[in-house]
Amino acid sequence: MTMKHLYIGACLIIQLLDFEFGMNVRNGTDRDAGELFKCFKSLGFDVCIYNDQTCEKMERLLREASEEDHSDSSCFACILLSHGEEGMIYGTDGAMPIKSMTSLFRGDMCKSLVGKPKLFFIQACRGSEFDDGIQTDSGPPNDTLETDANPRHKIPVEADFLFAYSTVPGYYSWRNPGRGSWFVQALCNVLNEFGKQLEIMQILTRVNYMVATSFESWSEDPRFSEKKQIPCVVSMLTKELYFN
Ligand SMILES: *[C@@H]1O[C@H](CO)[C@@H](O)[C@H](O)[C@H]1NC(C)=O
Ligand SMILES: *[C@@H]1O[C@H](CO)[C@@H](O)[C@H](O)[C@H]1NC(C)=O
Repeated sequence: MTMKHLYIGACLIIQLLDFEFGMNVRNGTDRDAGELFKCFKSLGFDVCIYNDQTCEKMERLLREASEEDHSDSSCFACILLSHGEEGMIYGTDGAMPIKSMTSLFRGDMCKSLVGKPKLFFIQACRGSEFDDGIQTDSGPPNDTLETDANPRHKIPVEADFLFAYSTVPGYYSWRNPGRGSWFVQALCNVLNEFGKQLEIMQILTRVNYMVATSFESWSEDPRFSEKKQIPCVVSMLTKELYFN
């Protein structure tokens, strides 16, 4: 699908730096949010950043966004930058199910986004496991396809979502206090270079490759050193998506 609406769409960035209950300050998140703001803006999104929200306020922001009229938009994007656990994301005051926010955009809940891609990028831990890595070498696939579809009948309410997680279920997600998280660094890098040429899955495959190959943790504590990370894409998209 090529963008044939008036606007590409809204992009909501919610970032958490400070928490009320003794979780670590997420130094580096400002860097992530700033880079994401620039690259989504240059793709044509209307970007808004919200800082340090409670769970209730995060849900309200998403609810308000889901109630807006997206008729003139081609898609919707939301980026969550916080601490997390499997299926959960932290607000300043505790954890909430990611699904309680994303389900607001289901086909039966948000009519003006029916059949349009709803993209969620989630930089957060999904557990505390570490990936020790293994010596090998391989490259990403490299093909280009373009199709156009025009569905005019009943479609599943869970269709047209894409979840781009920074890490796989159960695992820790790495962030550098100076340079930002590995996932966001790679995502912005690939979007800045190929955001207007490649299809979203090709973009995210390149992000997977970059996180997998360009990053490795370093710490004086061997328990936290020489660890690897692989992002995770979960797609319910029904069409190819290009930002051009
Ligand atoms: C975050 O940055 C502040 C200011 O530079 C520093 O004082 C603090 O120790 C850092 N916290 C963590 C968890 O890295
Ligand atoms: C992928 O394709 C692009 C453009 O067609 C090309 O420049 C690049 O070298 C290819 N990468 C690999 C790993 O084959």
